Amino acid sequence: TAADGSDGRAGIGVIGGSGFYSFLDDVTEITVDTPYGPPSDSLFLGEIAGRKVAFLPRHGRDHRLPPHRINYRANLWALRSAGVRQVLGPCAVGGLRPEYGPGTLLVPDQLVDRTKGREQSFYDGEPRPDGVTSKVVHMTFADPYCPTGRAVALATARKQGWEPVDGGTMCVIEGPRFSTRAESRWHAAQGWSVVGMTGHPEAVLARELELCFTSLALVTDLDAGAETGEGVSHAEVLEVFGQNIGRLREVLFDVVAGLPQERDCLCAGALLGQETGVELPE
Ligand code: ADE
Repeated sequence: TAADGSDGRAGIGVIGGSGFYSFLDDVTEITVDTPYGPPSDSLFLGEIAGRKVAFLPRHGRDHRLPPHRINYRANLWALRSAGVRQVLGPCAVGGLRPEYGPGTLLVPDQLVDRTKGREQSFYDGEPRPDGVTSKVVHMTFADPYCPTGRAVALATARKQGWEPVDGGTMCVIEGPRFSTRAESRWHAAQGWSVVGMTGHPEAVLARELELCFTSLALVTDLDAGAETGEGVSHAEVLEVFGQNIGRLREVLFDVVAGLPQERDCLCAGALLGQETGVELPE
């Protein structure tokens, strides 16, 4: 697959977060099934600046799926099988520092997994329904995000006058509840920057499929340890996400246009020299 979509297939995937159920205006809807079950929704294929893009609403278009019920493996597999090689993952997060208030855009360079019991590998040695059983693979994941995608996201946000936070650690909790104050203070005391519910296992599953993955974390609230009000509410998250969706979409459009056509990052060769027993979709 050409990353520029010149073979007519999507080169770039966007996984929309809470409040982000449509991205492109002129789309072709396709349904994709995977050996891991169905993804959250159809893929919506369109074009930005000559680049083919596949959009997938992470929670389903009617926000039917809570974070712990999302079939992350199916989502990443479906994107790859549509030709996607570079994935942008906008998501709503809570700020763990008072200076990361609502409306902050943070492009993390690290993550901490505090989820429980989510399928987080394609290479788990379990037979799939089609009989394919993977070998054991231990993915290098020291730097979970694509360096090129991060650089493009940061430069694009700056150019549009939305000064982003460059780097920081996204703590991903299991949810669907928000953190207690004690948990939140603990997360903050570790030096982590923001907290969300969907950033994991999305990033590692992308890496396992040799996809570039860039997280764009939009702060919708101060998390319980950083605020003194009544705690975070889902309504607040959706409202602030809604207020920022316009400029987030504009940033994403320009990031799509700015991603390189040819990949020279390590993501593209993440499986080099490793026997997986699983054939990746072309
Ligand atoms: N998503 C948006 N705000 C959040 C918070 N405070 N905690 C976890 N996930 C979130």
